[in-house]
Amino acid sequence: MTTKRLILVGEGERFHLTNGSISYAFRASPEGILEHLHFGKAVPNIENSALEPRRPYRAATLEYEAQLNYLLDDIPQEYPVFGRSDNRVPTLHGINADGNSTLSPLYSRYEISSEKPLLSGLPSARSDNSETLTVFLKDSLFDLEIRLQYTVYAEHDVITRSVELINGGDQPISLNHVYSTNLDLCAGDYDLLHFRGSWAREFEQERHAVPHGRFVVESNKGASSNAHNPTLVVMPKTTDEHHGESVSFALLYSGNFAFNVEKSEFEAVRINAGISPFNFSWKLNPGRSFVCPEVAQVYCDSGLNGMSQIWHSFINQQIVPTQFVDIPRPTYLNSWEAHYFDISEESLVSLAETTRDLGVEMLVLDDGWFKGRDDDKTSLGDWFADERKFPKGVVSAAKQVKEMGLKFGLWFEPEMVSEQSDLFASHPDWIVQVPNRKPSTGRQQYILDLSNASVREYLFERLHAFLSSGEIDYVKWDMNRTMTEVGSTAWSKEQQQEVAHRYMLGVYELVSKITEAFPQVLFENCASGGNRFDLGMLTYMAQGWVSDMSEPIGRLEIFNGASYFYPASTMASYIGPQPSHQNGRAVSLQTRADVAFFCAARGLSLNRDDLLDNNEALKSHLSHYKSTAQDVVEGQLYRLLNDGNQVAWQLTSRDGKRVYLGYFHILSKPNLPLRRIKLIGLNSDAKYRLVQPAWQHGQPSYSGAELGNYGF
Ligand code: GLA
Repeated sequence: MTTKRLILVGEGERFHLTNGSISYAFRASPEGILEHLHFGKAVPNIENSALEPRRPYRAATLEYEAQLNYLLDDIPQEYPVFGRSDNRVPTLHGINADGNSTLSPLYSRYEISSEKPLLSGLPSARSDNSETLTVFLKDSLFDLEIRLQYTVYAEHDVITRSVELINGGDQPISLNHVYSTNLDLCAGDYDLLHFRGSWAREFEQERHAVPHGRFVVESNKGASSNAHNPTLVVMPKTTDEHHGESVSFALLYSGNFAFNVEKSEFEAVRINAGISPFNFSWKLNPGRSFVCPEVAQVYCDSGLNGMSQIWHSFINQQIVPTQFVDIPRPTYLNSWEAHYFDISEESLVSLAETTRDLGVEMLVLDDGWFKGRDDDKTSLGDWFADERKFPKGVVSAAKQVKEMGLKFGLWFEPEMVSEQSDLFASHPDWIVQVPNRKPSTGRQQYILDLSNASVREYLFERLHAFLSSGEIDYVKWDMNRTMTEVGSTAWSKEQQQEVAHRYMLGVYELVSKITEAFPQVLFENCASGGNRFDLGMLTYMAQGWVSDMSEPIGRLEIFNGASYFYPASTMASYIGPQPSHQNGRAVSLQTRADVAFFCAARGLSLNRDDLLDNNEALKSHLSHYKSTAQDVVEGQLYRLLNDGNQVAWQLTSRDGKRVYLGYFHILSKPNLPLRRIKLIGLNSDAKYRLVQPAWQHGQPSYSGAELGNYGF
């Protein structure tokens, strides 16, 4: 037996990835099929026939290669294909030059490495303290090699997977279905949890039984989308927030994706995930390779809160750019809901003066600053300062703001162009479009074709021109519409179904180039709020604008849903105007501030009058934000309660000494019973002193045991 610290390879090509807490195991069957054995709590060794798939006699079924009792429809597999006695949704489906659509990849060899190779052109998780297994499969008829890469981490109960396909033959292969992962679970009754929504109501959670047949969560919008987040949980029906097992998945991808959950005639549940196969095909030419997006998979047996803890620490330590890990985010004022498009050097500088006195640390100039941009009908693409509003340029305004001791941030929407713009006038061929169809608009704008290298060069040059001034500390990277009429003038007729994925490869190339060129600049990912909030974008941009819903009651469910996977460090929030511009609700400043508290990037979007009217209260909230910034960016977040009308969260500082409890009661009634909330993970013997507003006298102390076992 070859023994390595995290990956064990046993006789009969049995692979065991284990960190002592979880095990992921599979083997090559005597036929060369990769059979999945186990993903769950650690098992001491896998040389145990209990894990091996049975080959029971079944009447009236198929036999793989005429082999009695070997039916792939009933065998858990690592990377299943279609048409070899398995008729479920395959992980890979392709057609060779002879029109043959029956692939048959068989085990050939493996490699183990302590270095996880980064994926070419796609986001990858870092791999501190991990080992990587690459298993090579070969289909000799197709001349296709498939490399399945698995990484197991010593400190995270996470397995990452990715897949590369290499055409070793002399004929092209057409790939029309290439998922990144497959997990076949034992027969059973499971629930699934996924997150759906729309603009300003992202991350609504939906839990239901895994049905017979297929349940699909997907986006074909050219962005991971706010309609469905590219994350999924599958669990036994008994799992709740505090108890029970789950497996969960997150794609490191920001484009069209699909998660398939299929319950077979034998009640086995198959989950596969990756690029959406709808309107996708890829011509894999001889000698070329295709890399599937990476997926991360978590097993946890301590409820959904336990699962979230694993995702939070994995995202914090292995996904977000290293230079922003555990770095407190500055408090900020964003000009959007304060001024919309009506912003100028004068109003900006005046905002800076007002906010500096309140204790704001960064001023963000949102939309409206570039050539001719007086409303959302024009100017996207023309990334030059509007001389009417900023006669000396935006960089000069930034300098003035910085001289006042503030940081400066700037909004861009690089992937878009307005019909009314100089850029569109000179390059009408640069948009995502198909021949002879009038392009649809979204917010009256078109999408620039980032699969085209010339478009990327133009955008890099424009962004570089501003960022190289050294005056810009933060960029809000927006993206405000999704794709229609998907096609590109840069690619051949045969390759039009590659465009949506090539677009994402273009986005990742541009984003990685610009973030690498300016590593000190904090980038915030925004897409009309959470229209592209995923692990792919987080790999380059440490935080995201989760939602345009800045009204706090509307935000409660959004934040609660997002928190299943995403840590507070990745989320931005602000105290917006009241009544709210999104839903008209008037909410006290205290509640607006308390809900925003649970995101690491916290600020304001209020006009000068609102700032002056609430001067003292805002000073106090901002100073509280500042003094708690380190705890929120690195602390542990728990969901304690959510019954639709009451929501409670707990955030515990890394050293465990400070615990922040948020309790929000949406619609109250008189004379309600007194309820208790049990806190999580406190030190039973320690004393916790209650710090409360001055008008509530006294600072009583409680033991951790009381707060955890009896409640607050
Ligand atoms: C999107 C963003 C907002 C704001 C506007 C500006 O809607 O989500 O926060 O930046 O664009 O146009």
